[in-house]
Amino acid sequence: MKEKADALWKEFLDKLEEVYDREALENLRIAFLGKKGFLAGLMAELRQVSPEEKKTAGMVINTLKENVQEKLKDKTEELAAALYDRQVGEARVYEESLLIGHRGGSYHPVTLIQRTCEEIFRSMGFTIEDYPEIVDDFHCFQALNIPEFHPARDMQDTYYLSTGQLLKTHTSAAQNSIMRKYGSPLRAVFPGRCFRNEAIDASHENTFFQMEGMMIDKDISISNLIYFMKTMLSEIFGRAVTVRLRPGFFPFVEPGFELDIQCLICGGAGCSSCKHSGWLELCPCGMIHPTVLAYGGIDPEENSGFAFGLGLTRLAMMKYGVRDIRIFNSCNLKALSQFVNH
Ligand code: DAH
Repeated sequence: MKEKADALWKEFLDKLEEVYDREALENLRIAFLGKKGFLAGLMAELRQVSPEEKKTAGMVINTLKENVQEKLKDKTEELAAALYDRQVGEARVYEESLLIGHRGGSYHPVTLIQRTCEEIFRSMGFTIEDYPEIVDDFHCFQALNIPEFHPARDMQDTYYLSTGQLLKTHTSAAQNSIMRKYGSPLRAVFPGRCFRNEAIDASHENTFFQMEGMMIDKDISISNLIYFMKTMLSEIFGRAVTVRLRPGFFPFVEPGFELDIQCLICGGAGCSSCKHSGWLELCPCGMIHPTVLAYGGIDPEENSGFAFGLGLTRLAMMKYGVRDIRIFNSCNLKALSQFVNH
């Protein structure tokens, strides 16, 4: 009897190891302590045991029963505690998800810069325009004085759709439609996502943001251009900035410029941020080419205007000190959620 009881005890312990829920535990209890269970079987065998051995055999069975009961009780408590922990854990995860929702997320750094720029231009009487990302060759190039085989296209390779449409390479692609929409006088800025077939590294992306601006009226001159650029940049950086214009070539402006700002870190003395030149290239711009005005239905004899193409992604890098452009499209919330507009 002793051996049988020991074997059963061992079997019970093995089975108990595999129990992970209350149902399995109940099945185990029935298998051992139920009416037709193993212990009932042992009790039946007790009848065949000789009277001398009965007492010890009875004690063996009783001890086994008590041990099994105790183990079952412990396991019941263990399972209840595990269930409680799991439920509390789930509740905590749910609570945390609510909390994250409650914090409200954060804006993408490019969105922050874009909104700042929009506000500045709105306050100066500009309208904010939206424009599609899929455009046609005419709007992206031809209407901007870049005919089919013009070498300026080489710098703006992009992604073409089977329809012949393409992903816009610059926000300038909206110039023609906006001129046709409003005519002269006109003050508009139009932010947008742009695409180029670029090899990606820390300072190049195939997807980036720009904000284009145009001002057209009877007597718009380079002085107006410089005034608006200076005002905007001083507002963005929260202090007066010094700018300079260098000649730059873009087929849709004449004359065309590269607008630089004096390095805000070294004040023009030269440091690693400005590659020791004291200046940072920030915003290509120029006086809108007469042909481009004419394409837009505006008489170039009567009107003139300036246009600029601000690199929003680049500006965000400068303002927030981001060294790797790839962060912007990374979906890495740890990196992207740390920016606040100030
Ligand atoms: N669209 C040009 C580019 O992405 C930038 C640009 C240059 C825009 C001069 C302008 C401009 O409006 O006047 O390279």
